[in-house]
Amino acid sequence: MTGTQLYAISQWHDTDEIYARLKALVSQPIRPIKRERMNEFLSYFETRCVRSKSLTDQAKQFIPGGVQHNLAFNYPFPLAVEKAEGAYLWDVDGNRYIDFLQAGGPTVLGSNYAPVRDKVFTLLQSCGPVTGLFHEYEFKLAQLINRFMPSIEMFRMLGSGTESVMAAIRATRVFTGKRKVIKAGGAYHGWSDPMVYGLHVPGTGRHESAGIPVGATRDTQEFYPNDLNHLRRLMMLNRLRGGTAAVILEPVGPESGTRPVTRDFNQKVRELCDEFGALLIFDEVVTGFRLGMGGAQGYFGVKPDLTIFGKCVTGGYPMAGGVGGRRDVMLRFAAGVSGTGERAYVGGTLSANPLSCVAGYHALLEMERTNAPVVAGRAGDRLTQGLKAIIERYKLPFVAYNQGSIVHLETSGVMLLDFKNPLKLMREVKPRRHMMEEMGAAYMASGLITLAGSRMYTSLADTDEVIDDALNRFEDVLKSVI
Ligand SMILES: Cc1ncc(COP(=O)(O)O)c(C=O)c1O
Repeated sequence: MTGTQLYAISQWHDTDEIYARLKALVSQPIRPIKRERMNEFLSYFETRCVRSKSLTDQAKQFIPGGVQHNLAFNYPFPLAVEKAEGAYLWDVDGNRYIDFLQAGGPTVLGSNYAPVRDKVFTLLQSCGPVTGLFHEYEFKLAQLINRFMPSIEMFRMLGSGTESVMAAIRATRVFTGKRKVIKAGGAYHGWSDPMVYGLHVPGTGRHESAGIPVGATRDTQEFYPNDLNHLRRLMMLNRLRGGTAAVILEPVGPESGTRPVTRDFNQKVRELCDEFGALLIFDEVVTGFRLGMGGAQGYFGVKPDLTIFGKCVTGGYPMAGGVGGRRDVMLRFAAGVSGTGERAYVGGTLSANPLSCVAGYHALLEMERTNAPVVAGRAGDRLTQGLKAIIERYKLPFVAYNQGSIVHLETSGVMLLDFKNPLKLMREVKPRRHMMEEMGAAYMASGLITLAGSRMYTSLADTDEVIDDALNRFEDVLKSVI
């Protein structure tokens, strides 16, 4: 019965077992797809995706790399999409795919969900997408979020998750008068200057910070995922260097749980923050409403001081972002207007426009009505169990696990390399990354869209039939490895 379950996660995984399997995967040589079979998969793109190739080749003249979105940069070349509905996507050559990218996570209701689209159309006909003035839906959305997540006493809507993280960091510094912000190594919190630090691979600090002044990341620190002692040491040392303003976490673990946390990890970090007088920020850009209407904070029963929203907060419509939380901290965003103290400046011409607000409001109501997070979580469980069975049947070293509708399938292990073993990292990152690209291409040629060949988001639209069809396709690819 989905009616009684509130969250997408039926049971928290055995985190230690997952790490043991991932460690075993990374310690072995890679098992890519057999060359002849891979050539067959690649020939699909040459013969069946002719218009996609031509369009994205032409686009390269005007768009760096040919596509605007990081997730669209697929091997051997990006697909051009024409139609999206429910669990499926169609490319411009008329090929149909089961869509486990789901736009990177926001569409828990499935793509292009008609009841929300209708509400957006109605609003567009009356006031258009933006006026710059207050619209009732701003209030309705903020009030609704508060109903689902009581820790969100106030909500400030912004244009993206990235902006919202920037805003939250600023507010925590203003509120606490402290300087340092600590993130987990490998976690993604958008691409603002201070957060492009320890990206993808723990311990890599400024490795990807090209173009970012050293000063912008001077007060950012990273700790090794799950290493509470490391976090505590940083917070202790920070007492002598400006204090810790905030710890920011993806509550299921870096990269949407690719490096999963243990069940009690968030609570332990909450306690550390209280001990050191730091604020706790949950980045719920992915988990916010995907794990359940109460978010990861509801699932884990941990109350952050501030929460970052993105993706689901507008149900997949544009300008998805916001920060919410404790009234006393949130009032720092209004201080310049209402004169209650030093202000953390935020803005944005299109922030909280009526289109984004109406879409978010109705998408969240529909998610509640249909119990979409739980239904999507069930689909994630079915997909994961099926993948595990395939892995066992063919005696593969691969690892499948999920946090509800966030499903991970690690085949190359590239995301699990880290800086504790820099030689191995340098030697293996390229071939492992290429294997992941090839897996993504093979899935795609088999009618499956994944996120970078290693992650899948399920949705309300993923019936048992869709998942079983997908599993047959996955099996066809996975049995072709050397
Ligand atoms: C956990 C997390 N935080 C922040 C962001 C950034 O959000 P946006 O892409 O809306 O800027 C993302 C985007 O994928 C994310 O996954």
